Amino acid sequence: MRYLTTPIYYVNDVPHLGHAYTTIIADTLARFYRLQGEETLFLTGTDEHGQKIEQAASQRNSSPKEYADKISLEFKKLWDKFEISYDIYARTTDQRHIDLVKAMFLKMFENEDIYKGEYEGHYCISCESFFTKTQLHVNETCPDCGKATNLVKEESYFFKLSKYQEKILKWYEEADPILPKNKKNELINFVQSGLKDLSITRTSFDWGIKLPQNLQDDKHVIYVWLDALFIYVSSLDYLNSGKNAKFWPAHIHLVGKDILKFHAIYWPAFLMSVDLPLPKFIAAHGWWTKDGEKMSKSKGNVIKPKEVVDAYGMEAFRYFLLREVPFGNDGDFNEQALINRINSELSNELGNLLSRIVGMSAKYSDNKISCKDIHTFFQSELELCKEYLKNAINHIEQVQINKYLEELFKALSLANLSISKYEPWNLIKNQETQKANALVALCANILAKVCILLSPTLPKSCEKIAKALNFELNTSNYVNLVLNDDLYDFETTSCEPLFIKIEKPLLAQAVSIEKEIKQESPKIKIDDFAKIEIKVALVKNCENIKGSEKLLRFDLELENGEQRQVLSGIAKFYKPQDLINTQVCVLTNLKKAKIFGYESDGMILSAKSGDKLVLISPKELVQNGSLIG
Ligand code: MSP
Repeated sequence: MRYLTTPIYYVNDVPHLGHAYTTIIADTLARFYRLQGEETLFLTGTDEHGQKIEQAASQRNSSPKEYADKISLEFKKLWDKFEISYDIYARTTDQRHIDLVKAMFLKMFENEDIYKGEYEGHYCISCESFFTKTQLHVNETCPDCGKATNLVKEESYFFKLSKYQEKILKWYEEADPILPKNKKNELINFVQSGLKDLSITRTSFDWGIKLPQNLQDDKHVIYVWLDALFIYVSSLDYLNSGKNAKFWPAHIHLVGKDILKFHAIYWPAFLMSVDLPLPKFIAAHGWWTKDGEKMSKSKGNVIKPKEVVDAYGMEAFRYFLLREVPFGNDGDFNEQALINRINSELSNELGNLLSRIVGMSAKYSDNKISCKDIHTFFQSELELCKEYLKNAINHIEQVQINKYLEELFKALSLANLSISKYEPWNLIKNQETQKANALVALCANILAKVCILLSPTLPKSCEKIAKALNFELNTSNYVNLVLNDDLYDFETTSCEPLFIKIEKPLLAQAVSIEKEIKQESPKIKIDDFAKIEIKVALVKNCENIKGSEKLLRFDLELENGEQRQVLSGIAKFYKPQDLINTQVCVLTNLKKAKIFGYESDGMILSAKSGDKLVLISPKELVQNGSLIG
C-alpha cells in the first residue's frame, strides 16, 4: 500500500516550474508503484488559508475564497492538461479538512501540548514562518527567502515543540526517513541546536480555520502550516474511517528543500502529539534556476511549465526535469540542455532503436521476432541488461530518478551498440540469419524491458513502443520481463518517429510569436476601422531608388486620374518593370512621410510570409481608386 503526496500549493500565484517539478516526480513514482501492482493513492492540491493568500486576494480586490477558487482551479486544470495521475485533489477550504484540523487541535490541547501565551518575534509572510531576531539576515530579512519580515506581537497559543526534540532525533536515527540521505545531518544539527515551542495561532488577520468551539476563543485562527500539514490525513477521511483511511501512514511526502523543516520537524511532532503513526519517507528535492539565476517575476525569467510543454511536448519536458539533476540537488533550466536531451537521448537512443528494430524485423523476418536463440548468441548482453534494470529499480525506490533513467539509457545504448558491433546486415549477407534474427530479438527484448520501466516517466511514448512491438504495459509483464528476466517473442508494426530532432530553440520563438501577436493585434472598434482608407491603385511607373536596396518608388493612379508617389520596401522581392500596369492596394489616408529624400503619400500593402513580402492585389481588374473595406 503506497500513499504519496506533493505539497499542497499556495494559491497566491499561478503554477510555475517548481510546482510542476514536484508534481511530475510524484506522478512518476505513483505510476511506478501502480506498475509494481501496489495499491497506490496519490494526493495533490492547494493550500488556501493564511496571511499571504489574504493579502494576494485583497490586492486583486477579491475575497480570499473567490480568489482561492480561481487559482486552485488553474492548478487543477494544468495537472489535468499534463495528465497527472492524482487520485485526490485536496483543498484546505474543504469542510472535511476544516473539521479534522479543529479535532486535531483539540486533541493536542487535551493532551496538554498546547498552552496560551504571547508571541513576540518576526514573521515572514512569504514563507508563513516565524523567526527570532538572531535567526534573521541583514536588515531583518527572512533567512529562507530574503524578503522583509514583520515584527509581530500578539496573543497566541503555543505547541510544545520542545517536548518532542529527543523523540524526533530518535525517529531520524531509527527510521531513517529523510531522502536523500545527506539531508539528514542538516536536520539533526538544527534539532540538536534546540527546538522552541511554536506559535500555532494568529490574531492579526482572519483568513484561516477558527479554533474548536469548545475553546471559546474566536479571535484566533490556526497557523497555516498546522492547518496545511493535516491535509495529508484529512483527505483520507480519517476521522470517519473512510475507505482511504487504510493508506495512512504515507509512504512518501515529496517536498522542496525549502519546506523540509516543516515536514521533518513540525509534522512528526504534530503527529506524535495526536498519536498517529509517522510517514515512512520525506523526500526533498532541490531548486530550479533559469540560466543560473533565481527565477523571479521582477527579472522576467520565470519559466511557465505550460509554455515549455506547448513548445516541446509533455514527454520531453518530464524527461528533462527528471533526468537533468540528481534528486536533492539544485538544477538549472537551460533550453539548449533540454534540446540536447531530446536529440541525443530521446530521439537517437530511444526513438532510433525502435525504428531500427521495426525496420530490421520487417526486412529479415516478416515482422516476426523470435527470442529462441538469444541465449545462444548474446548471453553477456543479457546479463548486462539485467544489471542495469536492477540498478534502475533500486534507484527509483530511493527516489534517485535521474540515476534510474541513466541506467535505463545504458541498457538502450547497449542495444544500439550491439547493432553497430554485430552489423546484422552483414550477418544476413554472410548467411548467419539465425544470429541476425537473435540480435533483433535481443534488441527488442531490451527495448521492451526498458519500455516497461520507462513508462512511469514517458507514459505516452512507451504506449507507442508497446503498440509497435505488440505487448502490454502491465504488472504481469513487469513481473515477467523485468523481475523474472523472461524473454518474449514480438510481432512488429511500423510507427511514427517517437521524437523529432529539434533544430533550433522553440521556446523563445513561441514566446516571441505570442508577444508579436499580442502586441500587434489590439482589438479595435468598427469606428476605428472606418478611419482607415484603403484603395486599389494602378502602377503607372515603378523604379529602384539609388543607394537603397530595399526601396522602390511608385507612381500610382487612383480614381479620376489622381496621381500619387508612394515608396515601398519591397525591392528585394520584385523587379520594378514586372509591376508596371498591375494593380496594388494602398493605404491612402496615411500622413505623408519623407523617405530617402522622397515624399511618400500612402502605403502599399503586402503580406509577410516568412522573411518575404508579397504584394496584395485584387483578384480581378477593378476600377482604379476602388475602396477596400
Ligand atoms: N503551501 C506550502 C506547502 C504546504 S504542504 C503541507 C508551499 N507551497 S508553495 O506553493 O510555495 O511551494 C510548493 C513547492 O514548490 C515546494 O516544494 C517548493 O520547494 C517548490 N518550489 C517553489 N519554487 C521552486 C523552484 N524554483 N524550484 C523547485 N521547486 C520549487 O510551500
